[in-house]
Amino acid sequence: MIKRRSFIVILVLVVAGFLFNQCTQTVQRSNDARGEGYAGAATCVKCHADIAVSYAATAHANSTAPATRARIAGSFHKDSNHYEYNPHMKVVMKEQDGRFYQAAVQDGVERAAFPFDIVIGSGRKAQTFLYWYGANAFQLPVTYSVAAKAWVNSPNYPADKIRFDRMIPIGCFECHSSYIERTAIRAQKGYRVDDFNPNNIIYGIDCERCHGPAAAHVAYQEEHPSEKIAKYITSYKSLSNLQRLENCAACHSGIHEPLRTPFGFKPGELLKDYFQPDAVQQAASELDVHGNQYQLLQASKCFKNSAQQMSCSSCHNPHKQERDNLQVLSTRCMSCHVPGGKQFCLFADKVGSVITTNCIDCHMPARASQVITLKGEGQNRATPNLVRSHLISVYPDVAKKELGRLGNRGK
Ligand code: HEC
Ligand code: HEC
Ligand code: HEC
Ligand code: HEC
Ligand code: HEC
Ligand code: HEC
Ligand code: HEC
Repeated sequence: MIKRRSFIVILVLVVAGFLFNQCTQTVQRSNDARGEGYAGAATCVKCHADIAVSYAATAHANSTAPATRARIAGSFHKDSNHYEYNPHMKVVMKEQDGRFYQAAVQDGVERAAFPFDIVIGSGRKAQTFLYWYGANAFQLPVTYSVAAKAWVNSPNYPADKIRFDRMIPIGCFECHSSYIERTAIRAQKGYRVDDFNPNNIIYGIDCERCHGPAAAHVAYQEEHPSEKIAKYITSYKSLSNLQRLENCAACHSGIHEPLRTPFGFKPGELLKDYFQPDAVQQAASELDVHGNQYQLLQASKCFKNSAQQMSCSSCHNPHKQERDNLQVLSTRCMSCHVPGGKQFCLFADKVGSVITTNCIDCHMPARASQVITLKGEGQNRATPNLVRSHLISVYPDVAKKELGRLGNRGK
């Protein structure tokens, strides 16, 4: 009898401990900067470990980060730690007491130095850097170019003088991070200025940025651990093709004037709920390859003739880093363009079986962006930034060149 009672006491204590643990977890959960409805990416790991682990390596997850040495792609070695404007003036990247700075140096004398606080860009093509000055974020004068493997002049800064005064608006964060607290919008010399709370930011694009607030989903699944069906979370399967596309297009259709903050964009919502309609419809041939994947895809025959079946995830796995894996990406093309079938490549005979390893370079060639250009040391003209075009089409000149290259590997 006594034994039984102590067993019950222990059981009660265990249950109480469990509940207490649950409560404190709930308290922690509502600490997410975005508010009550959000759980935070750390909570998803418990039940979606595979996705969380592979997702951590993606460009999305790393699109913004605190500026640690490991995150900054460029060199701090004395031979390659600078960008020279002219023989008298340069910016030098330096480390001091565990922090990193860009210092303006004139004839060997340091004139000013500001810290690397935030890295924007996962480092696929370029990284640019911000520093905090009170409530405002400013871009540092020097950017890192992956193609040039060098420090280059930051976009929109003059090439002949060193400046630290380009203030960064909320827009960069709305596409490159999950949240930042804006404390005020002010006018200054006719320009809009965004004031922030630098301590209240969620770096990178996290699960809930795409999937929407998930605290209720987490609470429900934790209370019902044997439940295999998800509740309180939008399933992509239930969405229309347009809703699926626009979940990505919120950040991949260029800059539009927001009606309300895109941080709140949830699956199922549409661009028209968040942005003013564009005043001018640009022709596909005029669209810049940078940032306009949605419009370029829409202009492709592939998309137009796919009977509303093609979305970004027809080719992209949003949880996996598949960059440069053109063979895997080509298998996605061949799910519709079956080798040997009626809609297969008309060029197949010329190319041979090697064709199946790479549909991409001929039909989605990398093109120079006109809006993002990075100027290297001593260059009069900026190096173009190459971006894959989503205007899937026949590019005869490109194909001719590719044929030559593939010829060596072909039949
Ligand atoms: C206590 C466990 C648990 C936690 C924590 C959890 N989930 Fe889930 N989730 C599930 C289960 C179970 C399913 C249904 C089976 C599946 O699809 O894996 C699910 C499914 C989903 C789905 C697919 C829904 C569908 O019907 O297609 C999404 C999206 C999702 N979860 C997102 C999240 C996000 C984001 C987080 C973190 C904020 C999270 N989950 C945390 C258990 C959990
Ligand atoms: C919150 C804004 C946002 C949303 C939503 C978003 N993206 Fe992105 N995406 C970005 C940014 C920013 C980058 C560039 C990341 C970097 O390298 O720093 C990017 C990069 C990419 C890349 C290039 C990855 C690489 O490794 O080269 C692909 C592919 C992509 N996004 C597809 C998608 C798809 C598919 C969706 C929808 C399921 C989506 N994105 C939704 C902002 C977003
Ligand atoms: C409308 C969404 C959007 C806005 C606003 C935006 N970006 Fe981007 N940015 C993207 C996307 C999408 C990509 C990658 C795909 C591409 O190049 O088309 C990207 C790429 C980049 C890259 C290269 C990343 C890499 O890993 O190579 C940098 C650096 C960058 N953006 C900085 C900025 C800065 C600084 C701002 C603000 C002045 C800004 N972006 C505003 C969506 C946006
Ligand atoms: C760039 C947007 C984006 C981000 C960020 C994202 N997802 Fe997804 N997720 C999607 C899309 C799109 C689908 C539907 C894929 C499809 O149609 O096959 C999906 C499907 C899912 C599913 C159900 C299907 C499956 O693959 O099991 C789960 C669970 C899920 N996501 C969890 C997560 C978790 C956890 C994270 C963060 C670690 C995350 N997602 C981050 C876009 C995203
Ligand atoms: C969802 C199915 C689907 C996927 C995935 C798909 N396509 Fe298509 N594609 C189509 C359809 C449908 C057409 C139009 C065929 C027609 O009208 O004769 C087409 C047309 C084309 C054309 C002819 C374009 C023109 O302007 O004449 C090319 C080239 C092409 N696709 C290449 C690709 C490549 C490369 C990929 C992968 C990156 C791909 N497609 C992925 C369905 C798809
Ligand atoms: C028919 C297949 C297909 C579809 C559909 C598709 N993509 Fe892509 N995308 C690709 C391929 C292939 C690449 C090149 C990958 C590489 O070079 O590593 C790519 C590259 C990208 C990149 C990186 C571009 C760069 O060079 O920096 C972004 C961003 C991207 N896709 C976003 C999207 C978005 C957003 C959508 C939906 C609007 C979408 N994609 C739809 C096939 C597709
Ligand atoms: C060496 C370059 C090259 C490669 C690699 C290549 N294509 Fe093509 N493709 C072409 C050219 C050029 C044409 C136009 C041929 C013509 O009009 O005679 C074409 C035509 C097409 C068409 C249009 C058919 C039509 O009815 O108009 C489709 C679809 C297509 N390719 C799909 C693919 C797919 C899928 C792959 C990968 C398995 C691929 N291509 C690989 C060069 C290439």
